[in-house]
Amino acid sequence: MVDYRVDNQFTVLEINNPPVNALSSDVTIGLYDGILKALQDDSVQAVIIIGKGKVFCAGADITAFSKSIKGLGITDVGHAIESSSKPVISAVYGVALGGGLEIALFCHYRISDKKAKFGFPEVQLGLLPGAEGTIRLPRLTGLPVAMEIITSGRQLSAQEAVKYGIIDKIVENDLLQEAKTFATSIIGKPLDSLRLRTKKVKNADLVDKYYDDALKEVKRKSKGLIAPVSCLKTIRGSAKLPYDTAAQLERSLFTELITSSQSAALRYSFFAERSAAKWRLPNGARSANTKPGSVVSAAVIGAGTMGSGIAVCLLRAGIPVILVEQNEKLLKAAQTNIDQIFRGSVQLGKMTLEKRQECLRMLQGTAQLEKVKDVDIVIEAIFENLKLKQEVFAKLDKICKPTAFLCSNTSTLDIDKIASATSRPDKVAGTHFFAPAHIMRLLENVYGSKTSPETVATVMELGRKIGKISVLSKTCDGFIANRMNKIGVEAVYLVEEGASPYNIDQIMEDFGMSMGLDVGWRIRQEQAKALGVNLTAETKYLNAERYCSLPDKLYELGRNGIKTGRGWYRYDPANPRKPIPDLDVLDIIQTHCQNLGIQRREITAQEVIERCLYATINEGFKILEENVAEKPSDIDVIWQYGFAFPRYRGGPMFYASQVGLRKVFERICYYHATFPYSKHWLPSDLLRKLASSTDEIPINQWMNNWSSKL
Ligand code: CAA
Repeated sequence: MVDYRVDNQFTVLEINNPPVNALSSDVTIGLYDGILKALQDDSVQAVIIIGKGKVFCAGADITAFSKSIKGLGITDVGHAIESSSKPVISAVYGVALGGGLEIALFCHYRISDKKAKFGFPEVQLGLLPGAEGTIRLPRLTGLPVAMEIITSGRQLSAQEAVKYGIIDKIVENDLLQEAKTFATSIIGKPLDSLRLRTKKVKNADLVDKYYDDALKEVKRKSKGLIAPVSCLKTIRGSAKLPYDTAAQLERSLFTELITSSQSAALRYSFFAERSAAKWRLPNGARSANTKPGSVVSAAVIGAGTMGSGIAVCLLRAGIPVILVEQNEKLLKAAQTNIDQIFRGSVQLGKMTLEKRQECLRMLQGTAQLEKVKDVDIVIEAIFENLKLKQEVFAKLDKICKPTAFLCSNTSTLDIDKIASATSRPDKVAGTHFFAPAHIMRLLENVYGSKTSPETVATVMELGRKIGKISVLSKTCDGFIANRMNKIGVEAVYLVEEGASPYNIDQIMEDFGMSMGLDVGWRIRQEQAKALGVNLTAETKYLNAERYCSLPDKLYELGRNGIKTGRGWYRYDPANPRKPIPDLDVLDIIQTHCQNLGIQRREITAQEVIERCLYATINEGFKILEENVAEKPSDIDVIWQYGFAFPRYRGGPMFYASQVGLRKVFERICYYHATFPYSKHWLPSDLLRKLASSTDEIPINQWMNNWSSKL
């Protein structure tokens, strides 16, 4: 885990724990023993700590947090390094993150190559840098900078790290060789002033002001999160308390955080995101043994908002795009729109002018479908209508080369039906982007019964290449994302039964969801339209399902959301992002209920949460049952990236595991009995099975308990 070698007058301690040199207990023991051994070897004048492979060290081993950790901690190693009578130099390339940066900060010197990155990402895991990082960083950078770095969790470039005094030098050539040259230049120099524990915190008397300012910023940016506030408290401690007392405070707050449900959810989310890329099909094909096809050119059919956004994603990743629209006028509008997106990126400093020009050069607009004949992949983004899509796919099948992949941006339609219009159903898949496609990180890739593993691998790899978080879904009505979302449906029923729409939004916002009734309403409108049934204000049931006509009423009154200035809210054109509650809406609701003889009642916040989320969770279990999603974490990733579900709650499925499956199941059964005309309350068999276990089954084992039935 740590390779020890003596090279002339140096001991080189090389951390060797692939893939990211995380500080497992073997690594900390290796470092500790290495330092002691070097101290005992008279031929050694200095110690160099370096990482093997691509990085220096990505910090503590996150997989070990849920196990009880025995043996040496990072601070024990750190104290051995700092008190060493021989200079210790850390040589960083790749990343020095979290505990990795803390190890570096215990060293007397730090050098790095020019591409190295530094940071304390603990806050993103609901933690604080718990190996004295919050006490040592302010001693180097000063309080305001340390507060910003630690509460944001962002990565700093080597250049920034030098500027703030975090590292001593950036080197140009072979890192180990440079480290030896550097070590030679400092051998024999006194070490006392280099031990950070002996340094004073600059402007310590101003700490309360810095703390107040940073706290305001943290509350604004990280609403609902506890870790950033704890970070600030320990940094304040670094300025107010003696070193060891500050370290004790840091330890006790770290212990509080690591046992918090927020940290459990954030750590789960870290792995959930990575495991979404590791897919497995029911036929046994897996990401690990399937090679993606090559995609060096693409076409996008349909240059509306979605098509343009998709084109932007591809172009940014260096993939030339042929954009197809019906006529020159629409094409021109799309090209202007695309350029505006690029201009915006340039203005925000996210893209260089050269890159913008390069992207525009790679974009070719055409009204002739035949022009796409040579591309490797086509993404269709036309109107959501099966017949139309089948026509386009039939044409594409004839035009495109036999190896081309044909994908649809449909958000609900059956991929098998679309694929059946072609002679290559194995090469057809869904690539469901979320609006706005150039901003939203989620890509829901969908496979049909004939989609080949190679096609799945290709769209998953394409997602990675264009910077998306790709999640795989089996085809079904609405796939994982839209099929599962019952929030809008239940919210409308709650309004009909007695809740105010504004209360519902507030309750969901307090829960951490920034989407409220408004989004649900739009989804509901789409569903009503898709049914193609003549609805009236009196309609209470549809297809033996409960139906609420309130959204239709609002729609008929021209209350169509932000674009018409009115919906469930009023919108001030000068500030449309700030919806204003509207008394007229409350009157409309009142009249609707009177006309239908509905007795309105008091509705608690608890009921709002349960009705909106448990209905959604129940559908999530059905999605797992049917193997539409391969694992619960895939569903949670979709909710975090597609519907802004708060990451610190993990996602609806993780939330259910935290509430307890028995409790969730009982409430679903209760609502099913109360609302027999809502199919989504029919309890899932998988949930029933898991809830009947005497022990709570951990989320990562749910599917083991189900796969026997498949
Ligand atoms: N512990 C355990 N496993 C880790 C890890 C860690 N700290 N960091 C990454 N990994 C694993 C990932 O899960 C992934 O595993 P799989 O291949 O099995 O999926 C593998 O390493 C590679 O990671 P990525 O796919 O993320 O690779 P990347 O090249 O895109 O990114 C990285 C590399 C920048 C290091 C990124 O993984 C990262 O940001 N890691 C998290 C770093 C972090 O949060 N460190 C703080 C830990 S907490 C701490 O240190 C507490 C303390 O103060 C004592």
